[in-house]
Amino acid sequence: MSADTPLVRLTGVGKNYGNVIALRDVDLRVDAGRVTCVLGDNGAGKSTLIKIIAGLHRHDAGSYEVEGRQVAFDSPREALDRGIATVYQDLAVVPLMPVWRNFFLGSEKRRGFGRLDVEYMRRTTKAELARMGIDLRDVDQPVGTLSGGERQCVAIARAVHFGAKVLVLDEPTAALGVKQAGVVLRYIVQAREQGLGVVFITHNPHHAYPVGDRFLILNRGRSIGHHTKDQITRDQLISLMAGGAELEQLAHELETIAAGRTAARELTEETDTKPPPP
Ligand SMILES: Nc1ncnc2c1ncn2[C@@H]1O[C@H](COP(=O)(O)OP(=O)(O)OP(=O)(O)O)[C@@H](O)[C@H]1O
Ligand SMILES: [Mg+2]
Repeated sequence: MSADTPLVRLTGVGKNYGNVIALRDVDLRVDAGRVTCVLGDNGAGKSTLIKIIAGLHRHDAGSYEVEGRQVAFDSPREALDRGIATVYQDLAVVPLMPVWRNFFLGSEKRRGFGRLDVEYMRRTTKAELARMGIDLRDVDQPVGTLSGGERQCVAIARAVHFGAKVLVLDEPTAALGVKQAGVVLRYIVQAREQGLGVVFITHNPHHAYPVGDRFLILNRGRSIGHHTKDQITRDQLISLMAGGAELEQLAHELETIAAGRTAARELTEETDTKPPPP
């Protein structure tokens, strides 16, 4: 593998659900120490794309390579074994479980006789969170008491700890306020600085632009642009995202409706003020 072989490369990828074309001819590249943003409106195919990367769905056209080798995953476990960790928006956390327990869920550390090494797991969780700049008062507190942003951060720290090379985040900032979104964006940058390749799905260009190195914009399952940061300005990204042409069409339609209403009103007023026929 040469130094510039991407961690993940999709070429001409397509996916249908029955008659629905969810994705067609999409290319994507994820490099170590870089953030690839996937943007698009509702139904654009973003989740479908990450489900393919995560091993949840098979693509039915094109090719998917991990570190230069063709893959066709049958399960998320296989993708994880190749270092691809996915954090879903509706995180699969158990709200009543302590943070450390959740951190090690499915990968518990044991001592002799199969006993859980609770001390090790507590300590490690705290240290790993601190390394990402997250200072939790108490790793024994239930996950359910964390804010949405903190939960995303714990999930990111967990993926980093368990050796992910690629971190896939499906709309991690969508349900968050400005401040919390900022916190999550900071951890995306931290993960990038630690050399991970990050795939950041969002429909918010204001979140994508400051952290992204590459931008793939999807519209109804097709790519309408794949740019590196030096090829696109923030305003161009916003305009592409908003579907510049579609917005103009919408504005035009709204104006036509408004104009129609004004004309109708004038007509009614005219009829009202007309003297009755003799
Ligand atoms: N399991 C499925 N079966 C049938 N159609 C599906 C399925 N999953 C997605 N689709 C369709 O595929 C298209 C792309 O959906 P997808 O969920 O990938 O979009 P998205 O960009 O993630 O949207 P959102 O922003 O709303 O999450 C949509 O038209 C959707 O209705
Ligand atoms: Mg989605």
